[in-house]
Amino acid sequence: MASVAVDRKRRVWVLSTGTTSYVVHAAADDRLVQLYWGARLSTADAVGLAGRSGEPFTTAPYGLPLDVAELLPVDGGLRWGVPSLQVTFPGGVRSLELVLISDDVVEEEHGRRLDLVLTDRHFPLRVVLHHRVSEGSDAIERWVTLRHTDPAGWPHDVALTVHRADSGSWLLPELPDYRYSAVWGAWAAESQLRRERLPGGELTLGSRHGITGHHANPWIMVDDGTATEERGEVWSVALAWSGTWRLTAQRRFEGRAAVTAGFGHDGVTWRLGPGDELTTPPVLGVYGDGGFGAVSRAWHRHARTRVLPRPGEVRPVLYNSWEATGFDVAEAGQLELARKAADLGAELFVVDDGWFGGRLDDTAGLGDWWPNPDRFPNGLRPLADAVRTLGMAFGIWVEPEMVNPESDLYREHPEWVLHHPHRHRDTLRGQLVLNFAREDVREWAFDWLDRLVGDHGISFLKWDMNRAFAQAGWPERAAGPDTAGDGARDGDQDRLWIDHTRNVYAVMDRLRAHHPALRIESCAGGGGRADLGILARTDEVWTSDNTDGHHRQSIQHGFSQILPAGVMAAWVTDAARTPLAYRFHVAMAGVLGIGGDLRAWAPEQLTQARGLVGRYKEIRAAVQFGEQHRLGAEPGRGLSAVQYVQGGDVVVLLYRPHADLGPTPGVLRLAGLDPDARYEEVGTSPEGDGAASASPVTGRLLMHAGLPIRDRLGSGDWASALVRLRRLPQ
Ligand code: DGJ
Repeated sequence: MASVAVDRKRRVWVLSTGTTSYVVHAAADDRLVQLYWGARLSTADAVGLAGRSGEPFTTAPYGLPLDVAELLPVDGGLRWGVPSLQVTFPGGVRSLELVLISDDVVEEEHGRRLDLVLTDRHFPLRVVLHHRVSEGSDAIERWVTLRHTDPAGWPHDVALTVHRADSGSWLLPELPDYRYSAVWGAWAAESQLRRERLPGGELTLGSRHGITGHHANPWIMVDDGTATEERGEVWSVALAWSGTWRLTAQRRFEGRAAVTAGFGHDGVTWRLGPGDELTTPPVLGVYGDGGFGAVSRAWHRHARTRVLPRPGEVRPVLYNSWEATGFDVAEAGQLELARKAADLGAELFVVDDGWFGGRLDDTAGLGDWWPNPDRFPNGLRPLADAVRTLGMAFGIWVEPEMVNPESDLYREHPEWVLHHPHRHRDTLRGQLVLNFAREDVREWAFDWLDRLVGDHGISFLKWDMNRAFAQAGWPERAAGPDTAGDGARDGDQDRLWIDHTRNVYAVMDRLRAHHPALRIESCAGGGGRADLGILARTDEVWTSDNTDGHHRQSIQHGFSQILPAGVMAAWVTDAARTPLAYRFHVAMAGVLGIGGDLRAWAPEQLTQARGLVGRYKEIRAAVQFGEQHRLGAEPGRGLSAVQYVQGGDVVVLLYRPHADLGPTPGVLRLAGLDPDARYEEVGTSPEGDGAASASPVTGRLLMHAGLPIRDRLGSGDWASALVRLRRLPQ
């Protein structure tokens, strides 16, 4: 299905997935332009696009400039749009002039890659535009490699400065109007979906925090303003990167729009010395014509088939102690919680912050990664073993990228943090950021994590990151002579913005390779590092520190636009504005966890929780691996539902936060079913008593007449229900 067709005569390349085609053309002056991105075309049709009249792009003085259609518009020549690539050459020359020198189609294990190789007309820079299509995914993946080619005759010590190196620009087709969807938010309010008219000019989303960020997430969807959850064409772009980033959508008065995205943020430069290479992270594009829901499902499929390290593995129900004990972590208290958690059916017990060094609160201890001797006089082993004896796996919280000034590590290595000479070292949450770009810091982190995991048989790391970068300097690599005296090139301290993230990835990858049973949760003060880059080496994401059942609905709704439910960690806690069943039903829409103080739960709450955990285990394969459909009104506001379909298994989680004046809707129309198959209901009570209620009905009936829901919700506020259906053999 995934194919790359080449017509060298007409200089056209056609990349196709199961449903989509993406057509590239080299214009006469070697500019690479996107001719098409949309529903799959035949190769003949796609190639024919190159010779058609009516080509809207022109280089006339006041026409619509060609660069809006370019795959990687450079800073240079007759271009006035947003550059995707900006480089300064020796002598301050800033205008790139690229010529196409070759195209290569490479067979890969899961698909095909197209490399279009360009080189600057004069300076020693090679630019390769990589494209990939993979089986089982509808995403078109693109990235760029820059190389200082150091040709004969060129002075060997002259570096190039890269100011912007996006992974690719995506042209949107001519539409009567443009609307974008994206998420914004804040700590404890991540992933709030906004859907607005794309303004004229430039709209930039991004992060300068050092991580993906709570305030925006690196993706955008664009439609013509009429798409719905179920219908309409939608074009979407996402960047697989966990450091700072920038995504710019430009909309031209002349009627076209394009999106360019890449790592790094304004002002950050990359020094490219002779022989150096810079590879950008992937940017991916997904097109769909089944509304926002279909595009989300395509992203979820992509994450499952091409991103996650263990996509087929069921995520366990975890218990995490953070909301119960805070920093007050000690062996006896954790064990008491572990017994209660095991009794509820938890499969993984995670000790959160507070177990190490002098970490009695958030002012001290980060960096001193050994068990606190007062709290764990015999180390962590006794607790880890006891947890395993209770039948659960053992997990632990770490924050490897941080240090408190009040720590042995900082006293020993004050130079390890991000800092500039003559400047403050501003703390946030009492901590400073370790410069993970440094090799010694990276090795130190790997060593203690490797030992910690190996010595205790740790199955799960909650890898946290609780503050943004500031005073992000690396004096040894700052401009000037070779101050470190280590032969390292000077003047490239900005690389820390990129290399920090790369080394976080590298440490995670090495840990996983050393400990194949280890699983990792990505956390950054809640959901500050949730993206397709981190998901290639983690198994789930801590979605938000906000565990209020109601608030979680909009957070989870935004999260689900790109990321699948199988990585969305969701706990039931003591944030008790909503009833226990409602909180469970919200958390059961992802990877269920429990974070309440079980010592204070009443016996009937424990019984109810035990039943719901059991019920979750029956439905979780559909939730974690199924196709997700978002149904009904805006989650958290009106009556809404999330439906999952995995083969013949159908799960519907239904929510009505407030009883409206007037009757509750009587039915909910389901989606994604086989119209001719018959479905029967399984286990109608929240506890899952296995009782079937009504007689089987067809998928057609459920999708067009709907599933009766009024009786399931009753009349009060915070009503929720779980419905499970099974397709009967035909
Ligand atoms: C932020 C995380 O999001 C919380 O779940 C918790 O682990 C705290 N950090 C611990 O400091």
